[in-house]
Amino acid sequence: MAKILGNRALGENFYLLTAEQENSARRGQFYMLRAWEHYPVLSRPISVFDADGGTVSFLYKVVGKGTELFSTLKEGQEITLDGPHGNGFPALPDKRRIALVGGGVGIAPLYLAARTYKEENPACTVDLYLGFSGQPVLTREFEAVADGTTVNVGGFVTDDIDPCAYDAILACGPTPMMRALYRKCTKSGAKAPLYVSLENRMACGIGACLVCTCKTDLGRKKVCKDGPVFLGSEVFGDE
Ligand SMILES: Cc1cc2nc3c(=O)[nH]c(=O)nc-3n(C[C@H](O)[C@H](O)[C@H](O)COP(=O)(O)OP(=O)(O)OC[C@H]3O[C@@H](n4cnc5c(N)ncnc54)[C@H](O)[C@@H]3O)c2cc1C
Ligand code: FES
Repeated sequence: MAKILGNRALGENFYLLTAEQENSARRGQFYMLRAWEHYPVLSRPISVFDADGGTVSFLYKVVGKGTELFSTLKEGQEITLDGPHGNGFPALPDKRRIALVGGGVGIAPLYLAARTYKEENPACTVDLYLGFSGQPVLTREFEAVADGTTVNVGGFVTDDIDPCAYDAILACGPTPMMRALYRKCTKSGAKAPLYVSLENRMACGIGACLVCTCKTDLGRKKVCKDGPVFLGSEVFGDE
């Protein structure tokens, strides 16, 4: 069990929960969270928003019973954190211009990604493209870890990016957003590889139940174990 250090309402049903937990979580990984005994049956997968050796935080949006229960948690209470799971975003030591594109709660894993890419290679440029349907959240925090931050409210965040201006592009958000971004990259002739983080529904989170599988050019893969990060060409290439 992990002690909750804070669970802050940010508006638009977004919350930022921080817990005390020794960890070696990497960008793009996720935990299975649980704050109840019997119902709902399944733990819920939530991406790592930020982590250091002793704490981990999660940006989540209330959409149903599980996330609603998370939103009631108070400082000092406990939560079960199982993880970190998944492969996470890759190391990009030779990429000078990196774009991170997030839609809705898909912005969650991009904070740690931006922060660590900049820390690992201060000479690289990291630009964030954040899409919101309502009031933006945590924009100041995102701005602090990136070179450029473009915020789109109510439109298509994929309209804002020129894929040819980057050496690598990473995205997380609704599948139609990531598919549109893949098509834009292909159409524009961009050389940058596109990595997408999928948020398929999960049950076990550890590769045992097959609930989360997705179609790839190499057959079906488990999003929890083989992903959640895949090359865009792997999952959208033959559509
Ligand atoms: C690897 C991964 C990382 C994730 N990271 C985050 C994160 O950082 N922050 C965050 O808020 N959410 C994240 N999610 C989504 C999150 O797991 C779901 O929103 C959550 O499980 C919903 O639980 P619930 O009980 O509140 O809602 P439920 O009652 O289970 O569902 C409520 C509604 O949300 C929809 N829904 C549930 N799960 C998903 C999903 N995975 N994708 C799309 N729609 C869904 C349902 O269809 C339903 O309409 C992530 C999912 C995955 C697989
Ligand atoms: S959630 Fe069970 S195999 Fe992925």
